[in-house]
Amino acid sequence: MDVAIFSAKPYDRQFLAAANEGRHQLAFIEARLSDETVRFAGGADCICAFVNDQVTAPVIAELAAAGTKLIALRSAGFNHVDLAAAEAAGMTVGRVPAYSPHAVAEHAVALILTLNRNTHRAFNRVREGNFALEGLLGFDLCGKTVGVVGTGLIGSTFAGIMRGFGCRVIASDPYPSDECAALGVTYVPLERLFAEADILSLQCPLTPDTHHLIDDRAIGLMKRGVMIVNTSRGAVVDASAVIRGLKSGVIGGLALDVYEEEADLFFEDLSQKAIQDDVFARLLTFPNVLITGHQAFFTREALSGIARTTIDNITAYEDTGRVLHPVTAPR
Ligand code: NAI
Repeated sequence: MDVAIFSAKPYDRQFLAAANEGRHQLAFIEARLSDETVRFAGGADCICAFVNDQVTAPVIAELAAAGTKLIALRSAGFNHVDLAAAEAAGMTVGRVPAYSPHAVAEHAVALILTLNRNTHRAFNRVREGNFALEGLLGFDLCGKTVGVVGTGLIGSTFAGIMRGFGCRVIASDPYPSDECAALGVTYVPLERLFAEADILSLQCPLTPDTHHLIDDRAIGLMKRGVMIVNTSRGAVVDASAVIRGLKSGVIGGLALDVYEEEADLFFEDLSQKAIQDDVFARLLTFPNVLITGHQAFFTREALSGIARTTIDNITAYEDTGRVLHPVTAPR
């Protein structure tokens, strides 16, 4: 099949070309998919999209009119796709439901350890010959309560790691997992989770239910000094509300790998440009905020898993008219 791959970075080329083994004709397009760039697909049988590509109804209509039949997402999340429009246009959508959950879970842990023990600040201090410890004080993770919102593949992997640190892990999920319960994770209602967590980790998908789950009301229920970690999707957190929580001191630490308006920021080198997003710029000013640019998935194992499943979805569609991992509009 002809495949137009949007938002293609050099690492996408490397891993997708290796997984493809010459089977499909891959065209790599650096641009992000949007109303303006959709024409670059050029009537390809399949377009391959990543998390900040805009797979909106007008984009889908234009793709369908040009003959595209398949949308192969190289992500687990599919909140950026208008599934109803895809279905109405008769297009199939496939995704990569599982690829090294360790990549994201371990990144969440890296953020917690860095933010807690200030290793990022220590690194800079020591390079400048400053060996003072003031401002670097952390806390023992052992014995603390970690609240996990969403215990799917990533959340349950994360819960297991935190159990290994000796944490008490509580969780909230409409579909509790037996695997997590076996790890000693206790399921509690969301409000209790907010009230008891010393560290709150968001591992749920972005849905209408989880949009701005962390808002002023939720923050109002939390322990003073709570650490919030978001590696799920930016819009699960109301960024203006967490700024208020940071200013009041209720939030003692905030680690974000995702941000609601990240599409205009992340995955690009903007170091020579003025950041236009004032909310994001304000977040960067807090000493207890740590932000990474949607890199939680970024391990060799995850990239090769993503590439393999993406190519397998495309091959299955070519062979049988169905992808291995379809995404359909909710009924
Ligand atoms: P999954 O589908 O295995 O698990 C999601 C879990 O969230 C499920 O158990 C589901 O029941 C639960 N859930 C749904 N609505 C909920 C709600 N209202 N409250 C609490 N729990 C709820 O998905 P997986 O693989 O664990 O990924 C989770 C999310 O992580 C993805 O949807 C994606 O948005 C994000 N992600 C972020 C990456 C990054 O690089 N930062 C990479 C991969 C995924």
